[in-house]
Amino acid sequence: MDKIRIRGGKPLSGTVQISGAKNAALPLMAACLLTEEALVLTNLPHLADISTMANLLSQHGANISMAGEAGDNGHAGRSINLHAPRITDTTAPYELVRRMRASILVLGPLLARTGEARVSLPGGCAIGARPVDLHIKGLTQLGAEFEMAEGYIGATAPNGLKGAHIVFPMVSVGATENLLMAACLAEGETTLSNVAREPEIGDLAECLIAMGAEISGIGTDTLVVQGKKSLHSAEHAVVSDRIETGTYAMAAALTGGDIELTGARVELVEAVLDKLREAGVDVDVTDKGIRVKREGALRGVDVMTEPFPGFPTDLQAQMTALMSMADGAAMITESIFENRFMHIPELARMGANVTVHGASSLVRGVDTLVGAPVMATDLRASASLVLAGLAAKGETMISRVYHIDRGYERIEEKLAACGADIERLDE
Ligand code: UD1
Repeated sequence: MDKIRIRGGKPLSGTVQISGAKNAALPLMAACLLTEEALVLTNLPHLADISTMANLLSQHGANISMAGEAGDNGHAGRSINLHAPRITDTTAPYELVRRMRASILVLGPLLARTGEARVSLPGGCAIGARPVDLHIKGLTQLGAEFEMAEGYIGATAPNGLKGAHIVFPMVSVGATENLLMAACLAEGETTLSNVAREPEIGDLAECLIAMGAEISGIGTDTLVVQGKKSLHSAEHAVVSDRIETGTYAMAAALTGGDIELTGARVELVEAVLDKLREAGVDVDVTDKGIRVKREGALRGVDVMTEPFPGFPTDLQAQMTALMSMADGAAMITESIFENRFMHIPELARMGANVTVHGASSLVRGVDTLVGAPVMATDLRASASLVLAGLAAKGETMISRVYHIDRGYERIEEKLAACGADIERLDE
């Protein structure tokens, strides 16, 4: 199992090319199941979760080929061709689903295209229970019938799906995506109210439109879909990764560095940049992206995670690492997931002073963090340990880095190019 060794304390300076977003790429890939024709996605990040999704889609009968390699300093040029002329198997097996919860995104497309799907029920995970009841209720309203057996969600729609008005009782990114994809092949009109407005959903909607779908309301909390008999081939570029953007912005801020994030899109990270400015970080929009620099002191600021356009839960752990060295205190409140504080005991091993109470953590800034052996527990928690390691005195050794590889493309190369002393050790 690989480890990452960081010798910290250096301000980072240079350029980081932001990759395509994992959380956009995964539903976009699942959308290939909606058509007999080929879907080509460009600006695809090179990540473990992308390979897991590719394996799952080939299990369902998709032919998949990748082209292009990531180049120097992260200039990802990958594209993927996904072609599912026939669905050969409608089961998403436990072996793949347990590795990646986003596997649930094949449920809507499989059901809409073939009238049946069998998807292993995703279990609990490190950041909370994460049920899929909203996906199931929504698809039931489109006419599907469900039966749970042997750890699998069995779904059938023998007469096809039919348009309906679905009001989500709470905002869910994955449920919005599953219903949006299913509605594209349902008969008649579907209205989805109280949908998530994350940019990855807008990206999916634009790709579906390129495939022949009729969708209005993109970027709002209501999507209206006119169902089609079939969709067709399309080519689509994956939107840039706002979580990767925020993570490297915080790396620059925490180390007192100066990094230009090329390919980053400011409108996707407004809430994050506002908080960084409030914390004393300089943020400028450039021709190529966003430049983040810190010369003065870092100030403690309070943050609450919220659905987009609020501060993303996927940057909560990294923000905690940043605040751990701020002047003063910061209250960080997690409103999306219960139990998303796994990074805190690990940060504490490096000298961070953080107290968790209910859904909030109180971070009292310290002058120095000190390197230590720490363990990655989930994807974003691991990123917070990398940030802390970059700022800490001495050596930090992070184990279980496979969590990082699920969502950050060549993180050690991108950071090393900005002067970080970081190395991947193959055990
Ligand atoms: C997606 C992102 C993930 C991000 C999250 C919130 C992908 C692949 N993953 O996850 O990185 O942290 O959005 O921005 O895009 N819920 C229910 N019932 C459901 C579905 C969700 O109660 O059927 C709850 C969840 O437990 C959670 C909240 O709704 O408390 C939001 O979850 P959701 O938006 O669905 O997250 P994901 O789509 O799983």
